[in-house]
Parts: sequence; C-alpha cells; structure tokens
Amino acid sequence: MTTVLAIETSCDETAAAVATGDGTGPASWTIRSSVIASQVDIHREWGGVVPELASRQHVRDLCGVVERALDDGGVGWGDLDAVAVTQGPGLVGSLLVGVAFAKSAALALGRPLVPVHHLAGHIESLFLCRPDLPLPAVVLVVSGGHTNLYHLPAAGRYELVGRTRDDAAGEAFDKVAKLLGLTYPGGPVIDRIARRGDERAIRFPVARMTHDDRAAGPATVTPPGLPRRGEGRMDFSFSGLKTAVARHLQRRRAEDPGPVTEPELADICASFQRAVIDALLDRTFEAVRRFGARGLGIAGGVSANSRLRELAQERGEKKGLPVVLPTLHLSTDNAAMIAAAGLRQLSAGVTAPLDLNADPALPLRAGGAAP
Ligand code: KG4
Ligand code: ZN
Repeated sequence: MTTVLAIETSCDETAAAVATGDGTGPASWTIRSSVIASQVDIHREWGGVVPELASRQHVRDLCGVVERALDDGGVGWGDLDAVAVTQGPGLVGSLLVGVAFAKSAALALGRPLVPVHHLAGHIESLFLCRPDLPLPAVVLVVSGGHTNLYHLPAAGRYELVGRTRDDAAGEAFDKVAKLLGLTYPGGPVIDRIARRGDERAIRFPVARMTHDDRAAGPATVTPPGLPRRGEGRMDFSFSGLKTAVARHLQRRRAEDPGPVTEPELADICASFQRAVIDALLDRTFEAVRRFGARGLGIAGGVSANSRLRELAQERGEKKGLPVVLPTLHLSTDNAAMIAAAGLRQLSAGVTAPLDLNADPALPLRAGGAAP
C-alpha cells in the first residue's frame, strides 16, 4: 500500500488530502481525508480572485489544513510514502506556496515528490467516482480557468482535442453574474436563480466554432498535442455570449429604466445558463461520436451546475452512454483529485527533483503530467 499526502493551492482553495492505493489503479484508490479551506469570502468582496491576497491566505492556512488532513486520515508524517502537489497551471504566487511546502515535506521525510497537473487532477476525480469509467472516453474539463475537451484512449492518457478560444465557461458565469450585479463566484448564484426562470425566454446566440476563425490572427498559439484548426479540432467560444447578455441589459434599460425584476433576472440567468450548457454538450457529444467513446466524463467547477448535470445525464441515457460527474466535493478544487492523479503518476514512476518549480502555464502532456 502506498500512502500519499496531496496538496492543492493553485487558485483560491487551500486543500490537502491523504489517499492510499496499491498501484493497481483507481479501483484501489481510497481517499482517507480531504480538507478544503475556501477563500471565497475574502475574494467575494473584490468581485474576483485577488492573486496577492490568495497567496498570503495559502501561507496562513496551509499548515493547519495539512495537519487536519493527516489527523482525519489517521496517519502520521512517518506513514507517508510520497508527497504530491499541484505544479500548475494556476496563479504563480498561490502555486509556489504549495510547491515550497511539498518540497520541504518531501525533503524532511526523505520521500518522493510527485508533480501533478491541476487538470489531470480534475480528470482523475472522475475515476475516484467511477474507477471503471469505460475507455476510450471523452472528458470535458470545465472550470473558472479552462474549458478543455480531452480524448482518453487509455488510462492516464489525455489528448486535448478542443478548448475555448476566449473565456472559460466558469469565467463566463462569473462575468455575467457581475453584469447582473450578483456576487462572486457567479456560477452557483446563477445556478440557483436560474431554477426559477424560463430557459427559453431569451435567445442568446453562441458561436459555433466549426471553422477557422480568421479574425483570431496568427497570434493564437496551438499548444503541443492540440490538433491544428481544420484538423478535427473542436473549440468553444463564450465571450460573444457575455456580450449578448450585456446588450440585452442595455436594450432593456433603454426601454424601461426601472430595475430588473426578480422574474426577469431568473429568465436571463436560465437562458444564459442553457446557452452555455447547450454549447458545452453539443461539442462534447460530437467528440463522443468522433472518437467512438464508450464513456463520458465532465469535471471541474462548472460540472457542479445542477442543470448541466441533469441535461448531460439525460443525453447520455438517450444514447446508452455512461456519463460520469464528480460528487460536488470533487467538482470544485480539492486535493483528493490531486492525490488520485499523484497515485497515477507514482505508479508510472513519475517523481520530481527537489528543485521543482511552480509553472503557471504548465501544459498537460498527452502521456500525463510528467515534467
Ligand atoms: O474548478 P474550479 O473550482 O476552479 C478552477 O480551477 O477554476 O472552478 C471554479 C469555477 C468558477 O468560475 C465558478 O463560478 C464555477 O466554477 N462554478 C459553477 C458552479 N459552481 C462553481 N458554475 C456553474 N454552476 C455551478 N453550480
Ligand atoms: Zn480547478
């Protein structure tokens, strides 16, 4: 049995988890503890994550969070076989806190340090929930910073086949919430208000990225592994949708300067949310068809969205396709998923030297998160 301590500090959650596995894969992964100290109340006041405040708060919280994770998991420092940590991507100041802590712990314990890619963590959260997720699979990682579509031909292999060309879906939720005068983070608030609205009330257009975007120009870099445009790449775009909501509000205020009523707000939230979900699911199911996937997973903060969960399951059932969504605790940032990805790395023999550095733009390599 291998016991790992995992640490996640890539954005605004300070998280630690303890997990064990026998190296045979997800079926043997047991999460013994998972502790999250959320900074959401600190950043809400500013309407978004303030990087400097985030890294300072990680420094304050991390020791306590790790001690609590060890206690809850019923293990002492001496029981640990490895220390896994999110190396990137994320806010560099935040990442550095976790990486420095993990390096120190690994050095003091004389145990291996395991580098983990944050998105590999989100993908592996699916295997924590369903160890036998059928492969090949298509996985949509949809969070505040990313909207990426992966093809998983085999366990631990992540091939990027599409991504957003502008805003991430979670970012669109957060920005639209701000336009509507709602609090940060916008996703959960819009999710709640949308339940009272009519999702067909307003038609918000969503760009379908079926061909080359000539306006994007040559500055757009194709990350390693991502097919070039026109070679079967399936992209998303959400910034136009945000503008459509802003225009709708402008028109409404020009016609009637009175405040937006509760029912109107609910209709806007529901219609916006449905437009995002349709764009996400249309592309994702298209990828399922293209790759002949036998399983589908949706991970990341936006996978907590109640309507997305409902509609994804509904579409999956119609096609006889197993659709896996993480539990709510595993949807948003947490360290249990980093432990899972760390165990996967460790069983593949991937460890890092003690001069490991945080990388805010770390690419997720098709073969895993190995540096
Ligand atoms: O994965 P995550 O915790 O952090 C990143 O890696 O970005 O995702 C946070 C994002 C935020 O944009 C938040 O608004 C969104 O996930 N989110 C939601 C919901 N819960 C969180 N979006 C829509 N509906 C939700 N219920
Ligand atoms: Zn995340």
